[in-house]
Amino acid sequence: MGRGENSIYENIIENLNVGVVCAAASMDISVFNQAMERMTEFSRGHAVGKNIREVFTRDGWLVDAFEKTFGEGKVFSDYEGLLHRRLSPPLPVGVSTMHVIDPEGNSTGVISLVKDLSGIKSLESESLRKERLAYIGTFAANLAHEVRNPLGGIRGAAQLLSRKLKDEGLKEYTGVIIKEADRLNSTVKEMLDFTKPAKLRKRNLNIHKILDAVILLLKEEEGPPIIKAYDPSLPPVVGDENGLTQVFLNLIKNGREAVGEKEGEVRVVTRMITEFHMVERGSKEAKFAEIEVADTGCGISKDDTERVFTPFFTTKRGGSGLGLPISYRIIQEHGGFLRIDSTPGKGTKVGVYLPVGIG
Ligand SMILES: Nc1ncnc2c1ncn2[C@@H]1O[C@H](COP(=O)(O)OP(=O)(O)O)[C@@H](O)[C@H]1O
Ligand SMILES: [Mg+2]
Repeated sequence: MGRGENSIYENIIENLNVGVVCAAASMDISVFNQAMERMTEFSRGHAVGKNIREVFTRDGWLVDAFEKTFGEGKVFSDYEGLLHRRLSPPLPVGVSTMHVIDPEGNSTGVISLVKDLSGIKSLESESLRKERLAYIGTFAANLAHEVRNPLGGIRGAAQLLSRKLKDEGLKEYTGVIIKEADRLNSTVKEMLDFTKPAKLRKRNLNIHKILDAVILLLKEEEGPPIIKAYDPSLPPVVGDENGLTQVFLNLIKNGREAVGEKEGEVRVVTRMITEFHMVERGSKEAKFAEIEVADTGCGISKDDTERVFTPFFTTKRGGSGLGLPISYRIIQEHGGFLRIDSTPGKGTKVGVYLPVGIG
């Protein structure tokens, strides 16, 4: 299709928000619109005139859909798969295909529409995660209650016993009972804190000050270097100092633990994000400060990415598995959100997005 002709149809296709790919009978691509360029991160020059196999080298499922549509007359509707991109991680998409037949009844090719499903997918996993957290929260609160009552009884009885005992040697044992009961009680309390987090006191904060304090603290322990790359023009964020300190302590620690003994680093980057799509809250132009904690560590396996926000999930000896779920919760209560992007063997980026304050 010559672009000079500038037919109204070409214009419409070009500006559709949905990806359009047309292939002729030879399976050579004839149309590759702007939305497709955006999604694949390939220019149309790279695609038009080439065989679909050459263009979608890593998307066999998509090539199959084209060939089945053309060869067997099958039609796909919102067929879901992952579309590989040049630079970014693969994008979840829904593909619909149609067989093109000319007025004489000859097959002339295939048209397909490719819809970006990333917004929908992240909403789906978001609500799953919330449900899971709510469930575990109720469960933990009940359990804590059940444990704390008898624990109080045990402690009280041990105290009473201790007072009646004359033998100092035996008192040592009641001392152990009391100490262990206290320890169990504080574990249970921590669990309750998780289900009912402390009230956040929000005000305008300089996030760089908080990050500096966290980094200073962590640098007292040995570990991989922590590198700062701040955007000095970042406006204040609205937040609770203690809560956010806890979040970044967790995240930077995780980053360092992921690097471990190997050569590597943790980078703390801040920047402004505008025009972020906030489908859930219905606002399209919210302004957020992004704080990214990026490490060059072991990364998170595909199976684990879904589980890292589940309380008590840990792959570390002696890990609590509460760092990420608590951080997630705190950020959520700030009206922000948290995203993880990880490549196993290469590293992990955790993005924290916080609403910025006024003035
Ligand atoms: N930056 C990271 N790189 C690799 N894996 C990570 C990273 N952050 C978290 N994880 C994974 O998520 C799990 C849960 O993290 P977290 O909730 O902080 O608990 P913990 O650090 O106590 O294990 C970790 O055990 C680890 O497997
Ligand atoms: Mg942790």
